[in-house]
Amino acid sequence: MTARKTYEQLRSARWMLPDDQRSFGHRSRTMQMGYAPEDWQGKPIIAVINTWSDAQPCHMHFRERAEWVKRGILQSGGFPMELPALSLSENFVKPTTMLYRNMLAMETEELLRSHPVDGAVLMGGCDKTTPGLVMGAVSMGIPFIYLPAGPMLRGNYAGKTLGSGTDGFKYWDERRAGTITQEEWQGIEGGIARSYGHCMTMGTASTMTAIAEAMGLTLPGASSIPAADANHQRMSAACGRRIVDMVWEDLTPDQIITPAAVDNAVTVAMATGCSTNAIIHLIAMARRAGVPLELDDLDRIGRTTPVLANIRPSGSTYLMEDFFYAGGLRALMKQLGDKLDPTAITVTGKPLVDGLDQVKIYNDDVIRSLSNPVYHEGSLAVLKGNLCPDGAVIKPAACDPKFHRHCGPALVADSYAEMKKIIDDPDYPLTPDTVLVLRNAGPQGGPGMPEWGMIPMPKALLKLGLRDMVRISDARMSGTSFGACVLHVAPESYVGGPLALLKTGDMVELDIPARSLNMLVSEEEITARRAAWVAPTRHYERGYGFMFSGHIEQADKGCDFDFLTTEFGGKTPEPAI
Ligand code: FES
Ligand code: MG
Repeated sequence: MTARKTYEQLRSARWMLPDDQRSFGHRSRTMQMGYAPEDWQGKPIIAVINTWSDAQPCHMHFRERAEWVKRGILQSGGFPMELPALSLSENFVKPTTMLYRNMLAMETEELLRSHPVDGAVLMGGCDKTTPGLVMGAVSMGIPFIYLPAGPMLRGNYAGKTLGSGTDGFKYWDERRAGTITQEEWQGIEGGIARSYGHCMTMGTASTMTAIAEAMGLTLPGASSIPAADANHQRMSAACGRRIVDMVWEDLTPDQIITPAAVDNAVTVAMATGCSTNAIIHLIAMARRAGVPLELDDLDRIGRTTPVLANIRPSGSTYLMEDFFYAGGLRALMKQLGDKLDPTAITVTGKPLVDGLDQVKIYNDDVIRSLSNPVYHEGSLAVLKGNLCPDGAVIKPAACDPKFHRHCGPALVADSYAEMKKIIDDPDYPLTPDTVLVLRNAGPQGGPGMPEWGMIPMPKALLKLGLRDMVRISDARMSGTSFGACVLHVAPESYVGGPLALLKTGDMVELDIPARSLNMLVSEEEITARRAAWVAPTRHYERGYGFMFSGHIEQADKGCDFDFLTTEFGGKTPEPAI
């Protein structure tokens, strides 16, 4: 443990302490807000980065929950300073929150840099908020704790349990197939999201908060607490109390996010049956911490880590509320045993594995053992081949096993609008072995790599009673999705990746056990097609999108901006005061 800092060594002291005119201004303006000198003198100032907004149902409780964090900060002798940040609602933000994840990362980093703060509590949970907040705070480098929003309660309608996203997709297919009524559909609409908190399936939100916990960035057990459970208030206050000590201890993120912590995060992610989106965010977060995580590392750990969390969509029945009652993420970590690296520490300053031996598993059908997994391998597989030289991702646990090895003719659409015509035509000539291909949906092409990868089943096949088929795209898919969907094809088609050269009718071969994805087209023909390919124009001529198009990296690199990566340029200086 490092020696405790003195007050004079804190960054906020540079603003608040000197006997000069600038500091006079900082102090007098703090007094303008109603505070007396004894409120801040000699105390660390803690940022509470709050992603609450009126357009963010998953974080609806954060306006009130921030007060609990502040209470904890005050109890521990800190001075709280709440700073609002982009709320990135997965539902409302278009064309996709992925376009703005890096904007939240930049905002977080610069909010922390430009204000007189010594540490931070980051309040997030809805999909992109976790990686966005963490990436920014890691690059800034001051002590922080991640406070996960917690999953919402289980959905409920007509005696049935409903899962976020997953059941929306499922019942939409049933509605299109004509097996449920308009009234039932409306009942599902009113029952599927019935409390604040993030999606309660093991989608991107639950996966990312689990990853944050496994990386050591939350208090132990924090990520599984349902948003509406009083444990969440208590955890929020505890975050406030702990961050003040972290500042005195100078427990900076580089001491926590080590290669061991990243390995633990990947292992836990795989065992949760993790969202495909997590791959991109894990890579981006690790790289910000200077840990060079690659797709191959993810596949390697995935091959030896079974899925243990029996939560939808990889599991069949349970949701995050059940996961919490069964023991939560700490119980899952206990089941992983020596697969976790004991050297990694958390925000507590103690090892992640500390105390796991005392953790109880209350339902071993929800949190399975290594000998009775939900799926024998990790949830994700990384594919390579002449269609995806830099990689692509599939979730074998969430697709019909008959598609694990598949060869079929491609049906290619250049845009989502074009694809929609195909899937909405009940007489479109396609067969169960057709491989649906959507391109121009990657980081540049989408733009922002929208969640279009779970292409809806074509009506023509739904009529035949089919519910799955092989689909390929350079898009992402929602973490609550399912099906034989190959995603994140890199390089993407929009920048001339080989997916751009595929034609309708070409045979495509998917082999998940062999980790390969190829078009059965000769090298000569591919070369000829490449020579004839014309690059599309970029989407934006001004604004944020212009900057995005110029600097976004491909999916296998985590979709960070090239100029935000740790290895880019020199160290960012502290602001002059
Ligand atoms: Fe916020 Fe799913 S919409 S987590
Ligand atoms: Mg989502």
